[in-house]
Amino acid sequence: MDRVKTGIVGLDTMLNGGFLPARPYVVSGPTGSGKTVLAAHFLLEGLRLQEPCLLVTLDEPPIEVKANMATFGWNMDRLKILDATPDVRAHKRQRSVIDVGTSLDVRDMEDVTDIRQSSQVRALEVTVHSVQKMIKQEFSQHLERTKQRYKRIAIDSMTALKMFSMEGQDSRILIQSFLRFLAELEATTLIVSERLDRRKLETEFFLGRGEIRMHKWIDGSMIRHALSIEKFRGSAFDDKMHPVTIGDKGMVVALDPHSQIRGTSPEGKPGESLLETRLIDEVSNVIESVMRQIEEAHRRQIPIRDVEVALSRAMLAFQRRNYQKAMKIALACDSQLRERIAEAPPPPPVAMPPRPPVIR
Ligand SMILES: Nc1ncnc2c1ncn2[C@@H]1O[C@H](COP(=O)(O)OP(=O)(O)OP(=O)(O)O)[C@@H](O)[C@H]1O
Ligand SMILES: [Mg+2]
Repeated sequence: MDRVKTGIVGLDTMLNGGFLPARPYVVSGPTGSGKTVLAAHFLLEGLRLQEPCLLVTLDEPPIEVKANMATFGWNMDRLKILDATPDVRAHKRQRSVIDVGTSLDVRDMEDVTDIRQSSQVRALEVTVHSVQKMIKQEFSQHLERTKQRYKRIAIDSMTALKMFSMEGQDSRILIQSFLRFLAELEATTLIVSERLDRRKLETEFFLGRGEIRMHKWIDGSMIRHALSIEKFRGSAFDDKMHPVTIGDKGMVVALDPHSQIRGTSPEGKPGESLLETRLIDEVSNVIESVMRQIEEAHRRQIPIRDVEVALSRAMLAFQRRNYQKAMKIALACDSQLRERIAEAPPPPPVAMPPRPPVIR
């Protein structure tokens, strides 16, 4: 199968040539670790190959994105950027996401604590739906104009999109459906997302077909950067952590064995015992399998809303570190889904041959 290169030489080697096409991937890491630079590299490589590329920006307005990339000497003029910042930042529901510009920063909204939970869900719903609508419109308009589909998409970031979401069932189901929508676009998609705590489950990490994790830590008076591939379905990959430098020409991953980083992650896993680590991995695997089956059920239009709600309960139990309960619910979801998928009629054939005319 053809590989989709990121354009970052060392990373492409680690990925055994690049991503598998038409699938969603996650780039995770703390702030300032290089997620946006990596996503920009990926899009730049697409532009270089004359592929239609789309950036959906929720963190920084397009003008800032372009200005930042220009400091690397990159010309991103041919990049289509969808500005989804205002709706999230200004939190103004009555205004269209497309035509509003504001000078508010999304981070200012972190201080907003007095929003009632129900309105938070509503706000997220509006945001997710409007962003989804924008992408859908852009997709069909582009296809009409150029007869070509977008090949590469980056969403920067899911964290901003979820800024107002409360920890609850509705918001998770909403995010799941947004991710399914992204997967159905059949473009290779990079979803930028922070995940600072392994015990906090974020939907995109289960639906993503792979995860590149960016690391950043302080070493004496230096800030160091590194990168690792946490998962990559359907492919072999280099699972070691390698140092990263961000300089004049963008991001470079050093694969030289002398510079390899040994031992555990510099961030460590505070407060996590060996037993807890194993439990986290086991529950994560079951939840991942459940999410894949949910995708399958949606494709085949099998009703499973109750299972989705149950899965949200499992994820909530997980976040509260009640792993036994999470495992119990997740396993029940798993067997429910297996049963329903097995019982459902087979999916209809893609192309139906025309019926012969009825002769009386
Ligand atoms: N033109 C540049 N030249 C050198 N270094 C740069 C340049 N632009 C960005 N950097 C460095 O790259 C690092 C990563 O930046 P990036 O914006 O990709 O982080 P991020 O992970 O997206 O952060 P956030 O979560 O806050 O969006 C920054 O710490 C910055 O020091
Ligand atoms: Mg960023």
